[in-house]
Amino acid sequence: VFTRDAAGHALFEGARLDALFAGAHGLTTPAYVYSLDAIVAELDALRAGFDGAAHLVAYAVKANSAGPILRALAEHGAGADVVSGGELQVALGAGIGPESIVYSGVGKRDEELDLALTAGGPGILSIQAESVEELGRIAERAARLGRRAPVSLRVNPGVLADTHAHVATGHDEAKFGIAAAELPAAFALSTGSPHLTLVGLASHVGSQLTETTAYLDAATTLLRLAEAHQQALGALQFLDFGGGFGIDYGDGCAACPADFVRALVALVRRSPFADRRILVEPGRCLVGAHGVLCASVLMAKSARAADGEPARRWLMIDAGMNDLLRPALYGARHRIEPMASQPQAEAPRYRVVGPVCESSDDFGEAPFAEPLPRRVVIRDAGAYGFTMASQYNGRALPDEVFLRGGRVVAVLRGATVDAWVSGRLG
Ligand SMILES: Cc1ncc(COP(=O)(O)O)c(C=O)c1O
Repeated sequence: VFTRDAAGHALFEGARLDALFAGAHGLTTPAYVYSLDAIVAELDALRAGFDGAAHLVAYAVKANSAGPILRALAEHGAGADVVSGGELQVALGAGIGPESIVYSGVGKRDEELDLALTAGGPGILSIQAESVEELGRIAERAARLGRRAPVSLRVNPGVLADTHAHVATGHDEAKFGIAAAELPAAFALSTGSPHLTLVGLASHVGSQLTETTAYLDAATTLLRLAEAHQQALGALQFLDFGGGFGIDYGDGCAACPADFVRALVALVRRSPFADRRILVEPGRCLVGAHGVLCASVLMAKSARAADGEPARRWLMIDAGMNDLLRPALYGARHRIEPMASQPQAEAPRYRVVGPVCESSDDFGEAPFAEPLPRRVVIRDAGAYGFTMASQYNGRALPDEVFLRGGRVVAVLRGATVDAWVSGRLG
C-alpha cells in the first residue's frame, strides 16, 4: 500500500499524499490517512487462514475505533472485541451485531455490564470475566435484569510473551485473566449460577507478537484446560485465543497473521473441541500498516556539540506525542520519511521531535537530505495511533482521512483547539 512514484512522492493506496494536503479537501496536518481497501484485504487474508473452520474474527476496537473502518470490517464479516461501554456502542452503531461482540477488560462498570446484557435485545455474545469477583458482579447484574449472562472465562495462561513489558498480558504478574489457582472457583461459579451460562474460554498473551511460540503455548494451555473440565463445558460455544499478531515496523516480522491462524486451527482440529467456533481478537494486524500519520516540518534546530562530536540536529514537526503516543509510551519506533521525495538512507540524521513539552515527545532518528522536506510521513500508524491521542498541551486532535480506490471517501474531523479552550473554560 505504501509505495512511491518515480519522483519519490509517497503513494498511499494510489493517492499522492502531498497532493491530498494541497487539494480540495481542506486537509491540514497532522492527520491520519487510512486505506480501507487494504484493511479489508488484510481481514480477508486472515479469514482465509481458517481453512473452513467455524470462526469469528472479533476485531479489537481499541486499535482503531473509527466508524469507516468498523463499517468496512463489519461488511466483511468481522465481529468486535470491546473493552468499554463506549467501544460497545460504537461497534453496534457501525453495524456489528451484538451476537458477534465480546467484551473484555478487568474492570467493567455496572452500567456497562447492563448495556452488554441488553444490547440489541438479547445482549452480546459473551462478557469475558477476568476474575471470580467479576463473575459474582455479572451474576448480580443479570439477576437484577432477570437475565442469564453469557460469560467466558478469560484465563491467564502463565505465558510470558517475548514483547514489550507494557503489552505482555498473559503472565502471572499481569492484572489480566483468571489465575490457575482461581480456576476451580471460577468454573464452579459460572456453571452453578442460575444467572450465568459459561459459553467460552479465552486467553490473550500480549500484543505485537512476531513469532507464534507464546501464542501457541497459551492455546495449548487453554485446550488442555477445556479438556480437563469437559464435563462442565456442555454449553461451550467457542474458544477465544485472543489477538496480538505482530506487524513489520521496519525490523521484520517472522510470522504473518495467517501463520498464527493456520497453526491454531491445526491445534484445535487435533483436540476434542474441533467442532467449536474459534475466536481471535486481532487489532493491530488489521489496521496498523494501513494508516500513516502525516505531519508538516516546522523547522530544523541544531546545536554545536563538544569538540570532535557531530552537531546535534532536530527536525521539529507539527505532530506530537499527543497525536501518536506509541514512541513515548513503549519506546516504539516508526519509519519516518519525506512525503514528496525519495528517502535517502545516507543523508544526515535528525531527531524527529514534536512540539509537546516532554522530552519523550521524540519519534526517533531519520535521515533527511537538503532541502529539508515540507512534510513527512510516519508509517505504520494505523493501530493505537488516533485511539491513544489526546489534547495534552492544549492541542487539537488530528483529522482522519479514509481512502478507497485511491479516493477520499470520508473525513473525521478531530476536536479543535477552540473546542479545547471552551471546554477548559467551562
Ligand atoms: C483482550 C485483548 N484482545 C485483543 C487485543 C488486541 O491485540 P492486538 O492489537 O495486538 O491484536 C488486546 C490488546 O491489548 C487485548 O487486550
